[in-house]
Amino acid sequence: MANENKPIHGIWGSRWVFILAAAGSAVGLGNIWKFPYMTGANGGAAFVMMYLLCIVAVGVPIMVAEVMLGRRGGMSPVNSMFKLARDNGVNSRWAGVGALGALSGFLLLSFYTVIGGWTLFYVWEMVSGALVHASAVEVQGAFEGMMANPWLVLGGHTAFMAMTMFVVGFGVIRGIERAVRILMPLLFALLAVLFGYALTSDGFADAFRYMFAFDIAKISGASVLAAVGHSFFTLSIGLGAIMAYGAYMPREVVTRSGQRKPVSIGSTVLAVAALDTLVALVAGMIIFPIVFANGLAPGEGPGLLFVTLPLAFAEMPLGMLFGTLFFVLVVCAAWTSSISIAEPPVAWLVEKGFSRPKAAILVGLLAWTLGIGSALSFNVLADYTLFGKTFFGLMDFLTINIMLPVGGLLIAIFAGWIMKETQARKELAMKSFGLYMVWRAMVRVFAPLALILVFAFSLWQALA
Ligand code: PHE
Ligand code: NA
Repeated sequence: MANENKPIHGIWGSRWVFILAAAGSAVGLGNIWKFPYMTGANGGAAFVMMYLLCIVAVGVPIMVAEVMLGRRGGMSPVNSMFKLARDNGVNSRWAGVGALGALSGFLLLSFYTVIGGWTLFYVWEMVSGALVHASAVEVQGAFEGMMANPWLVLGGHTAFMAMTMFVVGFGVIRGIERAVRILMPLLFALLAVLFGYALTSDGFADAFRYMFAFDIAKISGASVLAAVGHSFFTLSIGLGAIMAYGAYMPREVVTRSGQRKPVSIGSTVLAVAALDTLVALVAGMIIFPIVFANGLAPGEGPGLLFVTLPLAFAEMPLGMLFGTLFFVLVVCAAWTSSISIAEPPVAWLVEKGFSRPKAAILVGLLAWTLGIGSALSFNVLADYTLFGKTFFGLMDFLTINIMLPVGGLLIAIFAGWIMKETQARKELAMKSFGLYMVWRAMVRVFAPLALILVFAFSLWQALA
């Protein structure tokens, strides 16, 4: 292996494994749960268009930058940034980008596992056949019943956090690599089946129009900010998760004929981003037909996934089987994501001398404790709000809409302005110079400017 600094945490077997792991990180609750309900809450097509724009113009270039910094640094984001700052002769405070990311990851993890817990509960709902032939009202009732029960939500949160830390504690390569190899293809297959079902349903045309008939009047500062934040969240960028995975990415692979081939970051990242976007759009095109065919409200909020899909499964032949399989796969998709969210803080503690299991338990316990606030904000603490948001709402807003874009902004600035150009170019190993220049322009000027404008625009609208 031609790695100058072999990472202490291990290295992916090939470029393909990196794609699987990064796709495992990217494809998660963000695509299947959050994207549809955000679209519903932010005016449909207007949100979808802004989201797609953000992915292409801001998300992908920053994702390339983040993987590049990770592979160059070869360690946890904090220490990678520390090392890169030193190598490039700038203040070591740049390590703060890594620390901010680890903090965002920690906060994000605390509520990601709460939602992960809901998906666990829905596996049970499907297996037990409780929702077979259920009406829209009954399905809604089941969801509200779950939310109202603090013990149930806390139990799911606890179980999901334990699952996450179990894998992270064992090290990522042995556990997660094997799991994603099997589960990701299965998830795609099942999404295709459900998409086929959606195509034949009464609501499909309405759903399609809702998602793609763009209406500029529906754009507000809040919805632009939400689209930017979501594009970071869904691509797993801005907090160092993909930087950490990039650190375990080989620089070269040896082909079957014995030749050494550089592993290009650009094309690899494009594949991951395309996959992530596809899954989100397909999830939307599965969920909205059910919404319109059953007269449900697209703006339902975080419960959208859970009050629509059971309805489809309730009517479908073999619905119990498909429903169970589907929620098992959602659990797995969320699981491979939560693992990657936990990786930066855990890897950092390992570099500080903790054993992996101890580091995982420590991060898990702290995040679990903080997550209690989110778990209870759907029931006993539902009436305690600040700026009209519950504890969960505040955490979600703070991490996804603020911390991830700020992290991404700093990553772009470092990659575009601070890092020596020769280093960046060598690390990226892009085949086309033209494409490299496009990336460079985006990371230096376009992405930072877009982010700053969005912050300014939404602040101005919030104050007006
Ligand atoms: N991208 C994941 C999802 O869409 C969530 C995630 C965010 C994972 C940040 C890692 C880092 O569900
Ligand atoms: Na995603």
